[in-house]
Amino acid sequence: MTTLGKYRELRHGAVVLPDNGGYNLAAGEMNPMIVMKFADKLTSHGAQAVFEPFANPNGKSVSLFEEVGIYLWGHSLESDHPRIGEADSTIDEPVGEFEGVLFHPPYFGSQPFTNDPRDLSRMRDVDEWLVAMESAAEIAVEHLVQDGVVCAVGRRYRHGGKEIRLDEWIVTAFSGLTPIEVWMSEPDVAIILRSLV
Ligand SMILES: C[S@@+](CC[C@H](N)C(=O)[O-])C[C@H]1O[C@@H](n2cnc3c(N)ncnc32)[C@H](O)[C@@H]1O
Repeated sequence: MTTLGKYRELRHGAVVLPDNGGYNLAAGEMNPMIVMKFADKLTSHGAQAVFEPFANPNGKSVSLFEEVGIYLWGHSLESDHPRIGEADSTIDEPVGEFEGVLFHPPYFGSQPFTNDPRDLSRMRDVDEWLVAMESAAEIAVEHLVQDGVVCAVGRRYRHGGKEIRLDEWIVTAFSGLTPIEVWMSEPDVAIILRSLV
């Protein structure tokens, strides 16, 4: 079965995560339950460090991982947070290796997060956005340990009258990995991937 076929099958029977609020979808935040469930998964694998290429310096992921004893290193274009470096995740690499990657790119066509032209949320050409997103996925996987786990968050939506299958693009972007679980948090979907070894 192709990885896309596997993803569609998993999505069909996906667990639905609780939603206790406390986050702002319109501001690009994800349900903290996704972070907590991913942190639980990494803890059960004995993980020590996780990389978040598109982090929000004011978001909850650093503290949520800290609560379970996992160090989070993130990238963002603007940051004064000591654990989130100012970097362009489509070209800049993190230092070291990570047991987990939390991958939540700005969705194509979303409101701009910053004025920085490198911000994926500012891109108005879908092919340009895809190349940038794939590059960030490739860099993240290069810094993932061999049996590491990725939690990638996307959604299926409409933009400019067209259906955007961002969830499936993400699966395709992590070409060396295969989906193993899917968690729903409408309208978002969290896709858990790992290598086949
Ligand atoms: C969808 S938000 C992530 C939100 C976070 N996961 C949360 O739940 O709060 C994406 C973030 O990535 C940043 N970003 C956009 N393009 C980037 C790039 N090329 N490199 C690094 N960060 C980028 C945006 O400015 C924004 O802060």
